[in-house]
Amino acid sequence: MRQSSLVVVANRLPLDDNAAMDGACEWRRSPGGLSSALHAILEQTPATWVGWGGSIGGARELPDIGSLRLRPMALSEDEMRGYYEGFANSTLWPLYHDAVEQPVFDRGWWETYRTVNQRFAEAAAEVAEPGAAIWVQDYHLQLVPQLLRELRPDVRIGFFLHVPFPPPELFMQLPRRVELLRGMLGADLVGFQRPQAAHNVAQLATKLLGGHGGDEEIMLDGRTIRTGAFPVSIDVAEMRSLSARPYVVNQARQLRRDLGTHKRVLLSVDRLDYTKGIEHRLTAYSELLRDGRVKVRDVVMVQVAVPSRERVESYRSLRDRIEGEVGRINGEYGRVGEPAIHYLNQPFDRADLTALYQTADVMVVTPLRDGMNLVAKEFVAARRDDTGALVLSEFAGAAAELEDAFLVNPHDVDGLKETLLRALAADASELSARMKAMRAHITSHDIHAWARAYLTALDETGRLAQHLP
Ligand code: ADP
Ligand code: F6P
Repeated sequence: MRQSSLVVVANRLPLDDNAAMDGACEWRRSPGGLSSALHAILEQTPATWVGWGGSIGGARELPDIGSLRLRPMALSEDEMRGYYEGFANSTLWPLYHDAVEQPVFDRGWWETYRTVNQRFAEAAAEVAEPGAAIWVQDYHLQLVPQLLRELRPDVRIGFFLHVPFPPPELFMQLPRRVELLRGMLGADLVGFQRPQAAHNVAQLATKLLGGHGGDEEIMLDGRTIRTGAFPVSIDVAEMRSLSARPYVVNQARQLRRDLGTHKRVLLSVDRLDYTKGIEHRLTAYSELLRDGRVKVRDVVMVQVAVPSRERVESYRSLRDRIEGEVGRINGEYGRVGEPAIHYLNQPFDRADLTALYQTADVMVVTPLRDGMNLVAKEFVAARRDDTGALVLSEFAGAAAELEDAFLVNPHDVDGLKETLLRALAADASELSARMKAMRAHITSHDIHAWARAYLTALDETGRLAQHLP
Protein backbone atom coordinates (compact mmCIF):
# COMPACT_ATOMS: atom_id res chain seq x y z
CA MET A 1 0.00 0.00 0.00
CA ARG A 2 1.50 3.34 -1.09
CA GLN A 3 1.23 5.99 1.58
CA SER A 4 1.34 9.79 1.43
CA SER A 5 2.26 12.57 3.81
CA LEU A 6 -0.80 14.55 2.71
CA VAL A 7 -4.18 12.90 2.30
CA VAL A 8 -7.30 14.71 1.17
CA VAL A 9 -10.65 13.09 1.89
CA ALA A 10 -13.66 14.45 0.02
CA ASN A 11 -16.97 12.97 -1.01
CA ARG A 12 -16.11 13.22 -4.68
CA LEU A 13 -12.93 12.68 -6.63
CA PRO A 14 -12.28 15.67 -8.86
CA LEU A 15 -12.98 13.69 -12.02
CA ASP A 16 -15.79 11.58 -13.39
CA ASP A 17 -15.55 7.82 -13.37
CA ASN A 18 -15.51 7.70 -17.16
CA ALA A 19 -11.75 7.67 -17.48
CA ALA A 20 -10.84 6.03 -20.80
CA MET A 21 -10.79 2.23 -20.99
CA ASP A 22 -7.05 2.23 -21.71
CA GLY A 23 -6.63 3.71 -18.24
CA ALA A 24 -5.82 7.18 -19.54
CA CYS A 25 -7.18 9.63 -17.09
CA GLU A 26 -7.34 13.38 -17.19
CA TRP A 27 -8.87 16.04 -15.00
CA ARG A 28 -12.50 16.36 -15.95
CA ARG A 29 -13.62 18.52 -13.17
CA SER A 30 -16.98 17.85 -11.71
CA PRO A 31 -18.85 21.16 -11.45
CA GLY A 32 -18.78 22.44 -7.89
CA GLY A 33 -16.69 24.70 -5.71
CA LEU A 34 -14.77 22.03 -3.83
CA SER A 35 -13.47 20.34 -6.94
CA SER A 36 -12.55 23.67 -8.56
CA ALA A 37 -10.66 24.82 -5.50
CA LEU A 38 -8.71 21.68 -4.64
CA HIS A 39 -7.88 20.78 -8.21
CA ALA A 40 -5.68 23.84 -8.49
CA ILE A 41 -3.51 23.03 -5.52
CA LEU A 42 -3.33 19.26 -5.68
CA GLU A 43 -2.52 18.68 -9.31
CA GLN A 44 1.14 19.42 -8.57
CA THR A 45 1.32 18.08 -5.01
CA PRO A 46 2.45 14.64 -3.85
CA ALA A 47 -0.73 13.62 -2.08
CA THR A 48 -3.52 11.06 -2.11
CA TRP A 49 -7.15 12.04 -2.68
CA VAL A 50 -9.72 9.64 -1.23
CA GLY A 51 -13.18 10.08 -2.78
CA TRP A 52 -16.10 8.69 -4.70
CA GLY A 53 -15.70 8.34 -8.47
CA GLY A 54 -19.25 9.39 -9.32
CA SER A 55 -20.93 6.14 -10.33
CA ILE A 56 -22.86 3.50 -8.42
CA GLY A 57 -21.25 0.15 -7.64
CA GLY A 58 -17.65 -0.98 -7.39
CA ALA A 59 -14.73 1.40 -7.63
CA ARG A 60 -12.00 0.65 -10.13
CA GLU A 61 -8.38 1.62 -9.81
CA LEU A 62 -7.55 4.99 -11.29
CA PRO A 63 -4.09 6.05 -12.47
CA ASP A 64 -2.26 8.93 -10.78
CA ILE A 65 -2.76 12.44 -12.07
CA GLY A 66 0.70 13.96 -12.07
CA SER A 67 1.93 13.50 -8.53
CA LEU A 68 -1.58 13.07 -7.13
CA ARG A 69 -2.78 9.56 -6.30
CA LEU A 70 -6.46 8.76 -6.44
CA ARG A 71 -8.08 6.33 -4.01
CA PRO A 72 -11.58 5.69 -5.38
CA MET A 73 -14.34 4.71 -2.97
CA ALA A 74 -17.33 2.59 -3.96
CA LEU A 75 -20.89 3.58 -3.14
CA SER A 76 -23.79 1.15 -3.49
CA GLU A 77 -27.26 2.18 -4.59
CA ASP A 78 -28.48 2.13 -0.96
CA GLU A 79 -25.52 4.21 0.16
CA MET A 80 -26.14 6.75 -2.58
CA ARG A 81 -29.68 7.15 -1.32
CA GLY A 82 -29.02 7.16 2.41
CA TYR A 83 -25.66 8.92 2.60
CA TYR A 84 -25.35 11.25 -0.43
CA GLU A 85 -28.88 12.02 -1.57
CA GLY A 86 -30.37 11.51 1.88
CA PHE A 87 -28.45 12.66 4.93
CA ALA A 88 -25.88 14.84 3.13
CA ASN A 89 -28.10 16.52 0.56
CA SER A 90 -31.63 16.35 1.97
CA THR A 91 -30.83 16.85 5.68
CA LEU A 92 -27.54 18.72 6.12
CA TRP A 93 -27.42 20.74 2.89
CA PRO A 94 -30.80 22.49 3.34
CA LEU A 95 -30.30 22.92 7.10
CA TYR A 96 -26.85 24.45 6.65
CA HIS A 97 -28.25 26.83 4.02
CA ASP A 98 -30.70 28.57 6.35
CA ALA A 99 -33.36 25.92 5.70
CA VAL A 100 -34.33 27.72 2.46
CA GLU A 101 -35.79 24.31 1.61
CA GLN A 102 -37.24 22.15 4.41
CA PRO A 103 -34.61 19.68 5.75
CA VAL A 104 -35.81 16.07 5.89
CA PHE A 105 -35.02 14.02 9.01
CA ASP A 106 -35.12 10.37 8.04
CA ARG A 107 -33.82 8.05 10.75
CA GLY A 108 -32.78 5.38 8.25
CA TRP A 109 -30.32 7.69 6.49
CA TRP A 110 -28.22 8.30 9.59
CA GLU A 111 -26.91 4.73 9.84
CA THR A 112 -25.82 4.79 6.20
CA TYR A 113 -24.14 8.17 6.65
CA ARG A 114 -22.25 6.81 9.66
CA THR A 115 -21.19 3.62 7.86
CA VAL A 116 -19.95 5.48 4.80
CA ASN A 117 -18.04 7.97 6.98
CA GLN A 118 -16.43 4.99 8.75
CA ARG A 119 -15.33 3.52 5.40
CA PHE A 120 -13.85 6.82 4.21
CA ALA A 121 -12.00 7.15 7.53
CA GLU A 122 -10.57 3.63 7.20
CA ALA A 123 -9.41 4.28 3.63
CA ALA A 124 -7.74 7.54 4.65
CA ALA A 125 -6.07 5.86 7.62
CA GLU A 126 -4.69 3.21 5.29
CA VAL A 127 -3.03 5.60 2.83
CA ALA A 128 -1.61 8.06 5.38
CA GLU A 129 2.06 7.62 6.23
CA PRO A 130 3.12 7.96 9.89
CA GLY A 131 2.65 11.53 11.11
CA ALA A 132 0.81 12.53 7.91
CA ALA A 133 -1.68 15.39 7.59
CA ILE A 134 -5.21 14.32 6.63
CA TRP A 135 -7.47 17.04 5.32
CA VAL A 136 -11.17 16.15 5.43
CA GLN A 137 -13.59 18.17 3.30
CA ASP A 138 -17.17 19.23 3.77
CA TYR A 139 -20.47 18.20 5.30
CA HIS A 140 -20.62 14.77 3.67
CA LEU A 141 -17.81 13.58 5.93
CA GLN A 142 -18.43 15.35 9.17
CA LEU A 143 -17.88 12.25 11.31
CA VAL A 144 -14.55 11.38 9.70
CA PRO A 145 -12.25 13.53 11.89
CA GLN A 146 -13.30 11.79 15.12
CA LEU A 147 -13.27 8.34 13.48
CA LEU A 148 -9.78 9.00 12.15
CA ARG A 149 -8.54 10.11 15.54
CA GLU A 150 -9.53 6.70 16.91
CA LEU A 151 -7.85 4.86 14.04
CA ARG A 152 -4.70 6.97 13.69
CA PRO A 153 -3.78 9.02 16.78
CA ASP A 154 -0.41 9.84 15.14
CA VAL A 155 -1.76 12.01 12.29
CA ARG A 156 -2.77 15.66 12.18
CA ILE A 157 -6.39 16.05 11.15
CA GLY A 158 -7.86 19.07 9.40
CA PHE A 159 -11.51 19.62 8.54
CA PHE A 160 -12.78 22.32 6.18
CA LEU A 161 -16.45 23.10 5.70
CA HIS A 162 -17.12 24.59 2.24
CA VAL A 163 -20.72 25.43 3.05
CA PRO A 164 -22.06 27.73 5.77
CA PHE A 165 -22.30 26.46 9.34
CA PRO A 166 -25.77 27.39 10.57
CA PRO A 167 -26.73 29.43 13.62
CA PRO A 168 -27.14 27.33 16.80
CA GLU A 169 -30.96 27.49 16.75
CA LEU A 170 -31.00 25.75 13.36
CA PHE A 171 -28.25 23.24 14.16
CA MET A 172 -30.16 22.31 17.33
CA GLN A 173 -32.94 20.88 15.14
CA LEU A 174 -30.68 18.04 14.00
CA PRO A 175 -31.61 14.77 15.72
CA ARG A 176 -27.92 13.70 15.61
CA ARG A 177 -26.47 17.08 16.58
CA VAL A 178 -24.16 15.75 19.32
CA GLU A 179 -22.53 13.10 17.14
CA LEU A 180 -22.12 15.53 14.23
CA LEU A 181 -20.51 18.21 16.35
CA ARG A 182 -18.24 15.76 18.14
CA GLY A 183 -17.31 14.17 14.82
CA MET A 184 -16.15 17.47 13.32
CA LEU A 185 -14.34 18.50 16.50
CA GLY A 186 -12.27 15.34 16.27
CA ALA A 187 -10.02 17.48 14.02
CA ASP A 188 -7.03 19.52 15.20
CA LEU A 189 -8.06 22.42 12.98
CA VAL A 190 -11.61 23.16 11.84
CA GLY A 191 -11.80 25.75 9.06
CA PHE A 192 -14.81 27.67 7.80
CA GLN A 193 -15.54 30.23 5.10
CA ARG A 194 -16.67 32.93 7.53
CA PRO A 195 -15.76 33.85 11.15
CA GLN A 196 -19.43 33.66 12.17
CA ALA A 197 -19.33 29.89 11.62
CA ALA A 198 -16.51 29.48 14.15
CA HIS A 199 -18.53 31.56 16.59
CA ASN A 200 -21.60 29.34 16.09
CA VAL A 201 -19.55 26.18 16.66
CA ALA A 202 -17.95 27.56 19.82
CA GLN A 203 -21.40 28.28 21.27
CA LEU A 204 -22.62 24.80 20.39
CA ALA A 205 -19.51 23.10 21.78
CA THR A 206 -20.21 24.74 25.11
CA LYS A 207 -23.93 24.02 25.07
CA LEU A 208 -23.93 20.48 23.73
CA LEU A 209 -20.55 19.04 24.68
CA GLY A 210 -19.52 20.95 27.77
CA GLY A 211 -16.43 22.31 26.01
CA HIS A 212 -15.14 25.81 26.54
CA GLY A 213 -13.19 28.40 24.61
CA GLY A 214 -13.97 30.98 21.95
CA ASP A 215 -13.96 31.68 18.24
CA GLU A 216 -10.32 30.59 17.75
CA GLU A 217 -9.87 27.68 20.12
CA ILE A 218 -12.16 25.14 21.72
CA MET A 219 -11.06 23.02 24.66
CA LEU A 220 -12.79 19.65 24.71
CA ASP A 221 -11.95 16.31 26.35
CA GLY A 222 -8.47 17.53 27.27
CA ARG A 223 -7.67 18.59 23.70
CA THR A 224 -7.38 22.00 22.04
CA ILE A 225 -9.08 22.38 18.68
CA ARG A 226 -8.18 25.40 16.58
CA THR A 227 -11.00 26.98 14.59
CA GLY A 228 -11.12 29.91 12.20
CA ALA A 229 -12.11 31.39 8.87
CA PHE A 230 -10.16 30.51 5.72
CA PRO A 231 -12.20 31.91 2.80
CA VAL A 232 -11.66 29.63 -0.18
CA SER A 233 -10.69 31.04 -3.55
CA ILE A 234 -9.83 30.26 -7.15
CA ASP A 235 -6.77 29.72 -9.29
CA VAL A 236 -6.45 33.30 -10.50
CA ALA A 237 -3.37 32.55 -12.62
CA GLU A 238 -5.16 29.72 -14.40
CA MET A 239 -8.16 31.94 -15.18
CA ARG A 240 -5.87 34.69 -16.47
CA SER A 241 -3.96 32.39 -18.74
CA LEU A 242 -7.21 30.83 -19.99
CA SER A 243 -8.69 34.23 -20.62
CA ALA A 244 -5.76 35.24 -22.83
CA ARG A 245 -5.96 32.12 -25.01
CA PRO A 246 -6.83 32.93 -28.62
CA TYR A 247 -9.58 30.28 -28.57
CA VAL A 248 -11.25 31.96 -25.60
CA VAL A 249 -10.94 35.46 -27.01
CA ASN A 250 -12.39 34.34 -30.35
CA GLN A 251 -15.10 32.37 -28.66
CA ALA A 252 -16.09 35.40 -26.59
CA ARG A 253 -16.28 37.53 -29.76
CA GLN A 254 -18.38 34.88 -31.46
CA LEU A 255 -20.73 34.63 -28.49
CA ARG A 256 -21.11 38.39 -28.49
CA ARG A 257 -22.07 38.32 -32.18
CA ASP A 258 -24.50 35.46 -31.59
CA LEU A 259 -26.16 37.28 -28.70
CA GLY A 260 -26.37 40.59 -30.59
CA THR A 261 -23.42 42.99 -30.56
CA HIS A 262 -25.54 45.96 -29.52
CA LYS A 263 -27.17 44.16 -26.59
CA ARG A 264 -26.29 44.24 -22.90
CA VAL A 265 -25.72 40.70 -21.62
CA LEU A 266 -26.81 39.54 -18.15
CA LEU A 267 -25.09 36.27 -17.25
CA SER A 268 -25.67 33.74 -14.46
CA VAL A 269 -23.77 30.47 -13.95
CA ASP A 270 -24.91 28.07 -11.24
CA ARG A 271 -25.34 24.46 -10.33
CA LEU A 272 -29.08 24.00 -10.59
CA ASP A 273 -29.63 24.34 -6.85
CA TYR A 274 -32.41 25.97 -4.81
CA THR A 275 -29.82 27.85 -2.74
CA LYS A 276 -28.67 29.82 -5.78
CA GLY A 277 -31.69 32.15 -5.97
CA ILE A 278 -32.32 31.41 -9.66
CA GLU A 279 -36.07 31.85 -9.29
CA HIS A 280 -35.68 35.20 -7.51
CA ARG A 281 -33.55 36.58 -10.33
CA LEU A 282 -35.92 35.28 -13.01
CA THR A 283 -38.76 37.07 -11.22
CA ALA A 284 -36.78 40.31 -11.10
CA TYR A 285 -35.84 40.09 -14.79
CA SER A 286 -39.35 39.16 -15.82
CA GLU A 287 -40.83 42.13 -13.94
CA LEU A 288 -38.31 44.50 -15.52
CA LEU A 289 -39.43 43.22 -18.93
CA ARG A 290 -43.11 43.43 -17.95
CA ASP A 291 -42.75 47.02 -16.82
CA GLY A 292 -40.79 47.96 -19.94
CA ARG A 293 -37.76 48.99 -17.88
CA VAL A 294 -35.61 46.64 -19.94
CA LYS A 295 -36.40 45.65 -23.48
CA VAL A 296 -35.58 42.46 -25.32
CA ARG A 297 -34.13 44.49 -28.18
CA ASP A 298 -31.52 45.96 -25.76
CA VAL A 299 -30.87 43.27 -23.16
CA VAL A 300 -30.53 39.49 -23.12
CA MET A 301 -30.04 37.08 -20.22
CA VAL A 302 -27.92 33.92 -20.36
CA GLN A 303 -28.64 31.44 -17.58
CA VAL A 304 -26.27 28.50 -17.34
CA ALA A 305 -27.68 25.98 -14.86
CA VAL A 306 -25.64 22.79 -14.80
CA PRO A 307 -27.64 19.70 -13.71
CA SER A 308 -27.01 18.75 -10.08
CA ARG A 309 -28.24 16.05 -7.66
CA GLU A 310 -30.92 15.13 -10.13
CA ARG A 311 -32.25 12.14 -8.23
CA VAL A 312 -33.23 14.32 -5.28
CA GLU A 313 -36.89 15.34 -5.57
CA SER A 314 -36.41 18.99 -4.52
CA TYR A 315 -33.84 19.39 -7.33
CA ARG A 316 -36.13 17.80 -9.90
CA SER A 317 -39.04 20.01 -8.98
CA LEU A 318 -36.78 23.09 -8.98
CA ARG A 319 -35.70 22.24 -12.51
CA ASP A 320 -39.32 21.90 -13.62
CA ARG A 321 -40.21 25.26 -12.07
CA ILE A 322 -37.22 27.04 -13.61
CA GLU A 323 -37.76 25.57 -17.04
CA GLY A 324 -41.45 26.50 -16.85
CA GLU A 325 -40.57 30.06 -15.90
CA VAL A 326 -37.91 30.41 -18.62
CA GLY A 327 -40.48 29.16 -21.15
CA ARG A 328 -43.06 31.61 -19.86
CA ILE A 329 -40.66 34.57 -19.99
CA ASN A 330 -39.50 33.71 -23.51
CA GLY A 331 -43.09 33.12 -24.59
CA GLU A 332 -44.28 36.47 -23.26
CA TYR A 333 -41.35 38.74 -24.04
CA GLY A 334 -39.20 37.02 -26.67
CA ARG A 335 -39.39 37.76 -30.38
CA VAL A 336 -38.61 35.57 -33.36
CA GLY A 337 -34.84 34.97 -33.29
CA GLU A 338 -34.63 37.09 -30.15
CA PRO A 339 -35.27 35.22 -26.90
CA ALA A 340 -35.33 37.07 -23.59
CA ILE A 341 -33.30 34.27 -21.95
CA HIS A 342 -30.88 31.67 -23.26
CA TYR A 343 -31.10 28.75 -20.87
CA LEU A 344 -28.26 26.20 -20.92
CA ASN A 345 -28.70 23.12 -18.74
CA GLN A 346 -25.29 21.60 -19.48
CA PRO A 347 -21.70 21.44 -18.29
CA PHE A 348 -19.07 23.61 -19.97
CA ASP A 349 -15.35 23.16 -20.08
CA ARG A 350 -13.17 25.80 -18.45
CA ALA A 351 -12.32 27.58 -21.71
CA ASP A 352 -15.96 27.97 -22.77
CA LEU A 353 -16.95 29.09 -19.29
CA THR A 354 -14.21 31.74 -19.39
CA ALA A 355 -15.43 32.96 -22.78
CA LEU A 356 -18.93 33.27 -21.33
CA TYR A 357 -17.61 35.33 -18.40
CA GLN A 358 -15.91 37.64 -20.89
CA THR A 359 -19.14 38.11 -22.78
CA ALA A 360 -21.17 39.41 -19.85
CA ASP A 361 -21.91 43.06 -19.14
CA VAL A 362 -23.49 42.18 -15.82
CA MET A 363 -22.76 38.96 -13.93
CA VAL A 364 -25.73 38.17 -11.72
CA VAL A 365 -24.94 36.00 -8.67
CA THR A 366 -27.89 35.90 -6.28
CA PRO A 367 -27.70 32.94 -3.89
CA LEU A 368 -30.05 32.95 -0.91
CA ARG A 369 -27.19 31.43 1.06
CA ASP A 370 -23.78 30.26 -0.18
CA GLY A 371 -20.60 29.28 1.67
CA MET A 372 -18.45 31.23 -0.78
CA ASN A 373 -19.52 31.23 -4.47
CA LEU A 374 -16.50 30.79 -6.67
CA VAL A 375 -18.38 31.81 -9.81
CA ALA A 376 -18.29 35.43 -8.61
CA LYS A 377 -14.51 35.25 -8.21
CA GLU A 378 -14.05 33.47 -11.54
CA PHE A 379 -15.95 36.23 -13.31
CA VAL A 380 -13.61 38.88 -11.90
CA ALA A 381 -10.50 36.86 -12.78
CA ALA A 382 -11.69 36.14 -16.31
CA ARG A 383 -12.05 39.81 -17.31
CA ARG A 384 -9.13 41.13 -19.24
CA ASP A 385 -10.08 44.78 -18.92
CA ASP A 386 -11.94 46.80 -16.31
CA THR A 387 -15.37 46.52 -17.85
CA GLY A 388 -18.29 44.50 -16.52
CA ALA A 389 -20.36 44.66 -13.36
CA LEU A 390 -20.88 42.05 -10.68
CA VAL A 391 -24.25 41.94 -8.93
CA LEU A 392 -23.68 39.81 -5.84
CA SER A 393 -25.90 38.56 -3.06
CA GLU A 394 -25.06 39.69 0.46
CA PHE A 395 -25.67 36.08 1.49
CA ALA A 396 -22.73 34.65 -0.44
CA GLY A 397 -19.47 34.29 1.51
CA ALA A 398 -17.82 36.10 -1.42
CA ALA A 399 -19.68 39.31 -0.51
CA ALA A 400 -17.44 39.78 2.53
CA GLU A 401 -14.45 39.99 0.19
CA LEU A 402 -15.87 41.50 -3.00
CA GLU A 403 -17.24 44.61 -1.35
CA ASP A 404 -17.01 46.54 -4.61
CA ALA A 405 -19.63 44.40 -6.26
CA PHE A 406 -23.19 45.73 -6.51
CA LEU A 407 -24.34 44.01 -3.32
CA VAL A 408 -27.96 42.99 -3.10
CA ASN A 409 -30.50 41.16 -0.93
CA PRO A 410 -32.03 38.67 -3.38
CA HIS A 411 -35.14 38.21 -1.22
CA ASP A 412 -35.98 41.85 -1.94
CA VAL A 413 -37.10 41.57 -5.55
CA ASP A 414 -37.64 45.34 -5.90
CA GLY A 415 -34.15 45.97 -4.55
CA LEU A 416 -32.78 43.36 -6.94
CA LYS A 417 -34.50 45.04 -9.89
CA GLU A 418 -33.09 48.45 -8.94
CA THR A 419 -29.62 46.98 -8.50
CA LEU A 420 -29.75 45.30 -11.90
CA LEU A 421 -30.73 48.62 -13.48
CA ARG A 422 -27.97 50.43 -11.59
CA ALA A 423 -25.39 47.90 -12.77
CA LEU A 424 -26.64 48.18 -16.35
CA ALA A 425 -26.46 51.97 -16.23
CA ALA A 426 -23.16 52.37 -14.37
CA ASP A 427 -20.58 54.42 -16.24
CA ALA A 428 -17.22 53.11 -17.34
CA SER A 429 -15.22 54.90 -14.65
CA GLU A 430 -17.36 53.49 -11.83
CA LEU A 431 -17.15 49.98 -13.26
CA SER A 432 -13.42 50.27 -13.73
CA ALA A 433 -12.85 51.38 -10.13
CA ARG A 434 -14.99 48.53 -8.80
CA MET A 435 -13.36 45.92 -11.02
CA LYS A 436 -9.82 47.06 -10.16
CA ALA A 437 -10.51 46.77 -6.43
CA MET A 438 -12.07 43.32 -6.78
CA ARG A 439 -9.26 42.11 -8.99
CA ALA A 440 -6.62 43.33 -6.55
CA HIS A 441 -8.36 41.42 -3.77
CA ILE A 442 -8.59 38.07 -5.52
CA THR A 443 -5.04 38.37 -6.83
CA SER A 444 -3.66 38.48 -3.31
CA HIS A 445 -6.23 36.03 -1.97
CA ASP A 446 -6.08 33.21 -4.49
CA ILE A 447 -6.38 29.47 -3.96
CA HIS A 448 -2.69 29.07 -3.23
CA ALA A 449 -2.88 31.65 -0.45
CA TRP A 450 -5.87 29.75 0.95
CA ALA A 451 -4.12 26.37 0.93
CA ARG A 452 -0.95 27.88 2.39
CA ALA A 453 -2.86 29.59 5.19
CA TYR A 454 -4.84 26.45 6.05
CA LEU A 455 -1.98 23.96 5.86
CA THR A 456 0.37 26.25 7.80
CA ALA A 457 -2.25 26.54 10.53
CA LEU A 458 -2.69 22.76 10.51
CA ASP A 459 1.05 22.27 10.73
CA GLU A 460 1.17 24.65 13.69
CA THR A 461 -1.39 22.58 15.57
CA GLY A 462 1.15 19.74 15.39
CA ARG A 463 3.92 21.93 16.72
CA LEU A 464 1.67 23.26 19.45
CA ALA A 465 0.77 19.73 20.44
CA GLN A 466 4.45 18.81 20.71
CA HIS A 467 4.92 21.61 23.22
CA LEU A 468 2.04 20.53 25.37
CA PRO A 469 2.98 18.76 28.62
P1 ADP B 1 -21.02 25.30 -5.60
O1 ADP B 1 -19.81 24.83 -4.87
O2 ADP B 1 -22.22 25.42 -4.74
O3 ADP B 1 -21.32 24.53 -6.83
P2 ADP B 1 -19.44 27.62 -6.53
O4 ADP B 1 -19.87 28.85 -7.26
O5 ADP B 1 -18.55 27.88 -5.38
O6 ADP B 1 -20.75 26.82 -6.11
O7 ADP B 1 -18.65 26.66 -7.50
C1 ADP B 1 -19.17 26.23 -8.71
C2 ADP B 1 -18.04 25.72 -9.57
O8 ADP B 1 -18.60 24.92 -10.61
C3 ADP B 1 -17.26 26.85 -10.24
O9 ADP B 1 -15.90 26.55 -10.26
C4 ADP B 1 -17.85 26.87 -11.65
O10 ADP B 1 -16.93 27.28 -12.64
C5 ADP B 1 -18.25 25.43 -11.87
N1 ADP B 1 -19.40 25.38 -12.77
C6 ADP B 1 -20.57 26.02 -12.64
N2 ADP B 1 -21.37 25.79 -13.69
C7 ADP B 1 -20.69 25.00 -14.51
C8 ADP B 1 -20.96 24.42 -15.77
N3 ADP B 1 -22.13 24.60 -16.41
N4 ADP B 1 -20.03 23.64 -16.31
C9 ADP B 1 -18.84 23.44 -15.67
N5 ADP B 1 -18.53 23.97 -14.49
C10 ADP B 1 -19.43 24.73 -13.91
O1 F6P C 1 -19.43 23.41 -2.47
C1 F6P C 1 -20.40 22.61 -1.91
C2 F6P C 1 -20.51 21.29 -2.63
O2 F6P C 1 -21.36 20.41 -1.98
C3 F6P C 1 -19.21 20.58 -2.77
O3 F6P C 1 -18.88 19.77 -1.70
C4 F6P C 1 -19.44 19.86 -4.03
O4 F6P C 1 -18.27 19.64 -4.73
C5 F6P C 1 -20.33 20.78 -4.84
O5 F6P C 1 -21.07 21.46 -3.91
C6 F6P C 1 -21.13 20.04 -5.89
O6 F6P C 1 -22.04 19.14 -5.33
P1 F6P C 1 -22.11 17.60 -5.69
O7 F6P C 1 -20.80 17.00 -5.35
O8 F6P C 1 -23.24 17.10 -4.87
O9 F6P C 1 -22.37 17.53 -7.16
